[in-house]
Amino acid sequence: MSAVTGEIKKITTHVIQAMKDRGEKIAMLTAYDFSMARILDEAGIDILLVGDSASNVMAGHETTLPITLDQMIYHAQSVVRAVNRAMVVVDLPFGSYQSNSEIALSSAIRIMKESGAHAVKLEGGSEVEDSIRRILLAGIPVMGHLGLTPQSIYKFGTYTVRAKEEQEAQKLRDDAKLLDELGCFSLVLEKIPAKLTKEVSESITIPTIGIGAGPHADGQVLVTHDMLGITKDFKPRFLRRYAELFQVMTEATQGYIADVKSKSFPNEKEQY
Ligand code: KIV
Repeated sequence: MSAVTGEIKKITTHVIQAMKDRGEKIAMLTAYDFSMARILDEAGIDILLVGDSASNVMAGHETTLPITLDQMIYHAQSVVRAVNRAMVVVDLPFGSYQSNSEIALSSAIRIMKESGAHAVKLEGGSEVEDSIRRILLAGIPVMGHLGLTPQSIYKFGTYTVRAKEEQEAQKLRDDAKLLDELGCFSLVLEKIPAKLTKEVSESITIPTIGIGAGPHADGQVLVTHDMLGITKDFKPRFLRRYAELFQVMTEATQGYIADVKSKSFPNEKEQY
């Protein structure tokens, strides 16, 4: 908040870059709906990612592959309506950018036009170079995503740590350099060794944002429902839970059921 005008200072790509330049860590979380986005924005989050993890968290799919562009736009619209300060980045879903750069641009334009979000994210390096170039040429900021890229889960076979072997690590270094040179404004590094994150973060100019990638990234991201303990059984080593909301919400629901059954809700003050 500006002390002089009382206006909220919105987070832009320039603000994000300045944070890296002065060594301030960037905090990013996922959001898929209005109510959650409002809480996270008011709490002071820098970036809200409308992740395609909505496919798992919101819709209960096993992978991120089934979610559609229309569904991502619906989630993004709900998040954008809630936000006053945070930057809103939206995942381009599987199938909306891989086939050719024209389709990629049209998908990115739909997201920006129909949701009012501020940037898009897509997975991959040199394989999607043409799509990234074309989206950037249209003036749309792009966040990259390397390492474990869940849209390629059927190629990887598992969700284990990526780039442990030198050949894959070198490809990741090259891709990170490429994304930096192309003009992406930031880069998610998912589930790679901490040492590699440090090396990449120090060697490129744009901010890196890690998930399961150690402390040396320029920022961190978690799936909000994991961080709040709403997802019950997902407990990977990299996850820190800041609440146990599954338990809290279960107990609250049981309290409500008990009060309805015992006829103690509603009481005299809770009626007209
Ligand atoms: O979809 C998502 O939530 C993501 C984060 C895990 C980075 O891509």
